[in-house]
Amino acid sequence: NRDGTGVVSSCQAVPLLLCGLRQLEYRGYDSCGIAVLDRDIQVRRSCGKVATLSELVSSEGGALRGNVGIAHTRWATHGVPKVENAHPICVGKVAVVHNGVVENYPSIRERLEGSGSRFSTDTDTEVIPHLVESLLQAGLSPRHAVRKALEEIEGNFAVIFMLAGYNSLLATCRMLPIVVGQGPYANLVSSDEYVLSKYAQRICYLKDNHIAEISLNDVKIYNESDEALNYETILIRTPNTNTDKAPYDHFMLKEIHEQPGVIRNTINQFISCESVEFACDANLFKSLTHLTIVGSGSSYMAGLIAKYWLESIANIRVLLSIASEFRYHRMQISENDVFLFISQSGETADTLAALRHAKRQNGTVISLTNVPRNSMENISDIALKISQDRKCVVAQSTYKQLFEALQCMAQHASEALVTSIEPVADLILHYNRVIIMGRGTCYGVALEAALKIRELSYIHTIGIASGELKHGSIALVDESLPVVAIAPYNETFTKNLVSIQEVSARKGMVVAFTDGKGARKLKHLCKAIVELPETNAFSLPIVYTIAAQLLAYRIAVKKGLDADQPRNLAKSVTVE
Ligand code: F6R
Repeated sequence: NRDGTGVVSSCQAVPLLLCGLRQLEYRGYDSCGIAVLDRDIQVRRSCGKVATLSELVSSEGGALRGNVGIAHTRWATHGVPKVENAHPICVGKVAVVHNGVVENYPSIRERLEGSGSRFSTDTDTEVIPHLVESLLQAGLSPRHAVRKALEEIEGNFAVIFMLAGYNSLLATCRMLPIVVGQGPYANLVSSDEYVLSKYAQRICYLKDNHIAEISLNDVKIYNESDEALNYETILIRTPNTNTDKAPYDHFMLKEIHEQPGVIRNTINQFISCESVEFACDANLFKSLTHLTIVGSGSSYMAGLIAKYWLESIANIRVLLSIASEFRYHRMQISENDVFLFISQSGETADTLAALRHAKRQNGTVISLTNVPRNSMENISDIALKISQDRKCVVAQSTYKQLFEALQCMAQHASEALVTSIEPVADLILHYNRVIIMGRGTCYGVALEAALKIRELSYIHTIGIASGELKHGSIALVDESLPVVAIAPYNETFTKNLVSIQEVSARKGMVVAFTDGKGARKLKHLCKAIVELPETNAFSLPIVYTIAAQLLAYRIAVKKGLDADQPRNLAKSVTVE
């Protein structure tokens, strides 16, 4: 399931809701829907993009009217993407948009069906409006019906309710975000703060199991004991992010190009003169012998690259865990165990669940996210800072070099943006499988490159450590398989060269990502070379990752695929 939003407004709700859906669309787009409260509840749903729903609504020439409404973009978990499974899901007088998973829905559904309820979707969500509807019929007030219904639900959720004959929205959550916003023309609620920023001036995040009652003139919040609370609200500024993709054809290309600026801003935030300022308890690092990094997808790959930096610069043993696997390691955790959770969105359910698991066992937790109101931190700053605090045996001259290297990162990222990638994109797009290999920090780059190409162009890519090739994957190599070697001319080069020769000897087609020196040594072995600037150890994985992102992007575009909305994907995954 995915993101929901709701509005109670003095003007028509539909334009506001459609605008909200467009902002949410990047996070899930199997299907979407909208419901407004007229005399009764009017629902419109469609498969695919918000534009299709928008057309459906416009084709009715403004027939869909009402000041109270809810809307949703769906990323299917239970039930295929089809109109019937799209949200809002309406049962009797109750319409619902839901994020999360109702883990015990089979038993609830069986019970409700046993007592005569008819289900019209394959979703887990539908049990929620059924429960609320039956409790309303039993005479409970809307708020009490919602509370009682959700007591039965196992799993994490964020839900917004709209009820026929009731001019307020109700919203509640458990372990997933619900943000309530108040503005001059509308009060709003959403699972994503970003959606509210256009219309709300003040916001607050709902606490678990609290219920918000959102009406035109008021927002009331009740705790588990049904006591009304005074929540503190935060004044929000309109984010100064440019939400337009122009002059780029896609948001992905725009984001690739934004990286040098982001790197510069991030580094400037932590570096002053010749020292690194880092908003974290320095004592934490002094006695640190080991650190566990946890993340999902690309954030996990970032952790893999950080592992090499932290181990070589800060002399800390780094363990790495995929967030969704973390809880099953069954390791003993104590307060001496320090965990670094990496999540760009700060919302990924697998990573959040792993974080809570570590916290519950008194582990010391650091999280690194890119969410407003959370400090945004850079892994290499941490590595440097730790080495400084730990008084590692890093000579002052080495420290100075590291420091200077960090400051060049943005410049190197800019240089990577002009990489000539077209010939290699033209070559690779004709294949349906590719191996990408790398060593050291470039192992992380290889995994990330494989993920990005797979995700955007649907080519079956695997990323491996170069040294692992001979341990099995080499069986795949023949003239129909391109092998992309991430092979900068650094301390790993000679070993990479061996792996490249192994591929070449078996008539595999090698494409190398390397620098000028590497290119001279590799050209007789390679079908194509992507030549990248010579850099330092910090910039290197960033430069090579940017080139890989450009390659993934260009292949997708050349194949006529939508680089901004790859099929089946949600850009932040809030279900485990
Ligand atoms: C891939 C991608 C995902 C995310 C992953 C974790 O392009 O975007 O692999 O990296 O879902 O997301 P965050 O970092 O938000 O926790």
